[in-house]
Amino acid sequence: MRALQHKVFILPLMIVLAAALGACSDKATDKPAAQKSAQAQAPAEMPAEMPKAEMPKPAATTAAAPDGKSVYNQGCVACHAMAIAGAPKFGDADIWAPRIAQGMNVLYEHSINGYKGEAGIMPPKGGRMDLSDESVKLAVDYMVEAAK
Ligand code: HEC
Repeated sequence: MRALQHKVFILPLMIVLAAALGACSDKATDKPAAQKSAQAQAPAEMPAEMPKAEMPKPAATTAAAPDGKSVYNQGCVACHAMAIAGAPKFGDADIWAPRIAQGMNVLYEHSINGYKGEAGIMPPKGGRMDLSDESVKLAVDYMVEAAK
């Protein structure tokens, strides 16, 4: 009698085990597919490191002759377009007036070397250390011009 009970117990146990194994191997075959699709998506998500700009970005690879607008769109728009992190908003004359009153040299200096103000932190070159000082100045000119 005992032996029979034992067998009766073992059978469902084996079914459960088989099911569990099946589930495992299912997962194992699913995984590479999931990884693949994650990898496939990754490149598309990469540019999302910055908040999206309102304006479509013009070709960002005109390193030879940078103009203020394209530098702004590459390195500054992330914060300044929408006043992120306390950044003075692009084109807002009221916000920019007291800053412009400091003089262009202060604005250049603050933009190139970064500074911490009352509103927040302006990172050196907006964090784009690959930009030349000249490019950053052009972007400052562009921002100041837009806020007059
Ligand atoms: C990570 C966000 C961020 C990025 C990117 C950024 N800025 Fe700023 N910027 C700020 C913040 C925040 C302030 C305001 C700091 C304060 O006055 O408290 C600021 C202030 C400024 C000012 C005003 C300086 C002053 O003395 O009043 C200028 C000019 C400026 N940024 C230019 C730029 C330029 C040019 C770029 C791109 C090369 C850029 N910023 C990119 C956050 C950013």
